[in-house]
Amino acid sequence: ATTLDASAAAKGRYFGAAIAANKLSDPVYTGILNREFDSVTAENEMKWDATEPRQGQFTYTAGDRIVNHARANGMKVRGHALLWHSQEPSWAQSMSGTALRSAMMNHVTKVATYYKGKIHSWDVVNEAFADGNSGARRDSNLQRTGNDWIEAAFRAARAADPAAKLCYNDYNTDSINPKSTAVYNMVKDFKARGVPIDCVGFQSHFGTTIPSDYKANLQRFAALGVDVQITELDIEQGSNQANAYKQATEACLAVSRCTGITVWGIRDSDSWRTGKNPLLFDSSGNKKAAYTAVLNAL
Ligand code: XIL
Repeated sequence: ATTLDASAAAKGRYFGAAIAANKLSDPVYTGILNREFDSVTAENEMKWDATEPRQGQFTYTAGDRIVNHARANGMKVRGHALLWHSQEPSWAQSMSGTALRSAMMNHVTKVATYYKGKIHSWDVVNEAFADGNSGARRDSNLQRTGNDWIEAAFRAARAADPAAKLCYNDYNTDSINPKSTAVYNMVKDFKARGVPIDCVGFQSHFGTTIPSDYKANLQRFAALGVDVQITELDIEQGSNQANAYKQATEACLAVSRCTGITVWGIRDSDSWRTGKNPLLFDSSGNKKAAYTAVLNAL
């Protein structure tokens, strides 16, 4: 096939991009999106600060623009993200304890219910583990409501949208290391106790290389009985960029439960990693060598 989505579909996978609602009026942007991708993630529009800017007042206008564009063009939607310590609305940042716990659960229930039936996979919880060797949870006001906040969020999301795949998503978990092993142990425990979890997202924001044990790490999670997804892929520009994209694509294809790849933006100029030119299309919208490497690997 001659496009990313059709080639991925031939291998039973989706190929997605993070998109911004305010760019959907750019014909170059939308032209690439509609031609090459069959899944989208809202880069910011479904986060807590965007969807509940004042407590109990929900705003779905920007998220709906993304969902409507996706549905009109036959694309699936990854939901991102119900609970995350970053991009909390200011009212939530100043909360704690049982009041915050109920606000968190209300947020999960309300947003997952609103989008019920429209989301193929939700990042229910994003980035809850600490970097480094501790294997501990990240400290946050969410974590300080009690160690059971993650499983409570997954149970609330399942009740609200039973058909959506429910994912845990994080970064620096792409190789086998103390942080990914801590996530692995949480997933294993959730499966053993019947906490509803269906997938693990690996953000995959890389420097110029990908970890040598990337595939092995994806595989060990899949062996727990969850799907795995590459959720926010971007790789710094440099002489190895195309090769690293090829290796990342091959890693997903080598793991039968790796169900899809999402790149975190379309053109280099759309990337959150300013100056790194980490995406598949240059700032004019031309295909890069990295694009061809992915297409040929699929
Ligand atoms: C980033 C967006 O790309 C930026 O536009 C925003 O300013 C900050 O968040 N991990 C995640 C994503 O899970 O939500 C982040 O997205 C990138 C890191």
